[in-house]
Amino acid sequence: MAQMQPKSIAVFNSNDIYPISADSVLPFEQHRDIFYLSGADQEETILLLFPDAIDKKHREILFVTETNDHIAVWEGAKLTKEQGTEVSGIQTIYWLSDFDKVFFNLMTEADTIYFNTNEHYRQAVVNETREDRFIKKTKEQYPAHKVAKSNPILQEIRGIKEPEELELMQTACNITGKGFRRLLGFVKPGVWEHEIEAELIHEFIRNRSKGFAYPPIIASGNNANVLHYLENNKACKDGDLILMDVAAEYANYSSDLTRTIPVNGKFTKRQKEVYEAVLRVKKDATKLLVPGMLWAEYHKECGNLMTSELLALGLLDKADVQNENPDRPAYKKYFMHGTSHHIGLNTHDYGELKKPMQANMVFTVEPGIYIPEEGFGIRLEDDVVIQEKGEPFNLMGNIPIEAEEIESLMNA
Ligand code: GLY
Ligand code: MN
Ligand code: MN
Repeated sequence: MAQMQPKSIAVFNSNDIYPISADSVLPFEQHRDIFYLSGADQEETILLLFPDAIDKKHREILFVTETNDHIAVWEGAKLTKEQGTEVSGIQTIYWLSDFDKVFFNLMTEADTIYFNTNEHYRQAVVNETREDRFIKKTKEQYPAHKVAKSNPILQEIRGIKEPEELELMQTACNITGKGFRRLLGFVKPGVWEHEIEAELIHEFIRNRSKGFAYPPIIASGNNANVLHYLENNKACKDGDLILMDVAAEYANYSSDLTRTIPVNGKFTKRQKEVYEAVLRVKKDATKLLVPGMLWAEYHKECGNLMTSELLALGLLDKADVQNENPDRPAYKKYFMHGTSHHIGLNTHDYGELKKPMQANMVFTVEPGIYIPEEGFGIRLEDDVVIQEKGEPFNLMGNIPIEAEEIESLMNA
């Protein structure tokens, strides 16, 4: 609200509940912006902010679906007005059925309406969202108002985590760690990828996570070289590695972990060599995440770290590097994705990418080396918090990552 223009209103809509077909629907997932701003995790809720409203009680309003006894019996209780205030701290709670009337009245006092468009750098949404429909309708009904964007403000403030958020993210990471430790005693030759997935979801849900923070990747052998492998339906073979990019959500916050372990509990010499190379890049890249660092500069440095390792592993030679196209450096052959992304309420979270990094931004660090011709791919990924001074704090610092520790836990 402090960043909004004078006489302006901002509105934030919930997500739709997405249909499957017939009367089936996907489980509801709240839009992360209205959740971040209000804590309301209920469908159809609308948040309205109007810092200059003449009537003070209209500076913040939460609209919630009117609940009744019938709904309470079939779907369970929805937020009452009192509970709306309890979860959000907002004093003025109205029923959703009053929205059009109240909104019209307030729009007569306002010059500008903030729309919440999706400007995430990786967004590729094809569905018309509830927010989209609201924008369309409001533009039609209020053609004389100026429009502004909420998204840049949200990208900035959501990118820097509050202590309460860091605590929830730590909990998500701890649950992920429990799942990973459970696996170390479970994986052996002949186990199926989906059996590993089942172990994880069991551990996550019993620790009060809703489940996976994103679709889990459990990729043995060469499946690890399909970056978005989601089938998780093959048997794990003796001598292969398994790349597992799996993590829990907690309270709508994501964690994002990748570990790569040997099916039989022991890395081969070559597997270990490549493993150690990835781990060194991860450790050195992490040290670069300090206030003031620029995103583009960071990724260039990570590319340099990876190039040195690939030379030492004999995967690249000097000529490959000398002749490389700067727009597609030689290392990309074996490491084709980015090293980091913001993480928070979304796995690939909001956050500034063009201004210098700041304390309390949370990033993943996830280098990998993928070698189809050798039948394996290795990625290691942790989530770290940038500190005012010194190295970032690793939220996954107690999840085993050293090759020897993994081996000894698998053989315990
Ligand atoms: N698990 C998604 C990612 O690592 O970005
Ligand atoms: Mn990631
Ligand atoms: Mn990941």
